[in-house]
Amino acid sequence: MSLSLATESVRRPVTVPAVAASKLNRGSDPLVMVTAYDAPGARIADEAGVDMILVGDSLAMVVLGYDDTLQVTVADMAHHVAAVARTKPKALIVGDLPWMSYHVSVEDTVRNAAELIRAGAQCVKLEGGAKRTPMVEAIVSAEIPVMGHIGLTPQSVHAMGGFKVQGRESEAALQLIADAKALQHAGCFAIVIEGVPDQVAAMVTDSLDIPTIGIGAGARCDGQVLVMHDLLGVEDRIAPKFVRRYADVKRVSVDAVAAYAADVRTGAFPSAEESYHLTSEQAESMALYGSISA
Ligand code: KIV
Repeated sequence: MSLSLATESVRRPVTVPAVAASKLNRGSDPLVMVTAYDAPGARIADEAGVDMILVGDSLAMVVLGYDDTLQVTVADMAHHVAAVARTKPKALIVGDLPWMSYHVSVEDTVRNAAELIRAGAQCVKLEGGAKRTPMVEAIVSAEIPVMGHIGLTPQSVHAMGGFKVQGRESEAALQLIADAKALQHAGCFAIVIEGVPDQVAAMVTDSLDIPTIGIGAGARCDGQVLVMHDLLGVEDRIAPKFVRRYADVKRVSVDAVAAYAADVRTGAFPSAEESYHLTSEQAESMALYGSISA
């Protein structure tokens, strides 16, 4: 039997326990997560029926123009989580904890997670494996659900020496399994696996009771996540291998703005229908004072 969160006749809000129970090997449909960073993006994602909206720290690269994700702060993330939350989506809102928001102390970590919850997130995500378990336990004990994120963790770009596929050697693959189990034991309700060979992601998935959500991790994860701007083709820069472009929004948008510019320059925009008009009485009375030509 399919346990899809999206295909129920009346769409109910997606909850953390419902996500936590969604395993392919228990008959669930794959979980669908997509990023959004603002109200229009959240409305698009929710109307499309996704299960989860991730307000990711990819915000830094996708929206704010930085070269990596290390530049955004808790305040930046809260600002964008709030914009998504104002649309009151049925999808679960995941707030991404940015770099240095969960690395300094447990107290700091819980306070930062709470800031994203107060902004409207229903759970938070953080990167890293076993070494993050004290932070995960502290956040969970403050009643905030936590999603883990292992493999290619973009906040570790300098430590990894670039955005590189992880877990290719057997020792690294075994470490990923150990990390995933440690995160599950610490209380994570789901784990993102990014940039990992599909066989390794499958092993991690099979070793867990909680779902895995893959990005560049093959089809055997319990769900998938993509960056909204990648799948829409909002930019035409070279995308990673795992991105499938479902639209060419950049092309459509450039064409539309170019057509607008041409219409302004030729006088074709605005037309009379796109302008406000005085009534003839108003025009006449203004003409009496010489302030308007008839
Ligand atoms: O910030 C983000 O968009 C992410 C996804 C790539 C999983 O963490």
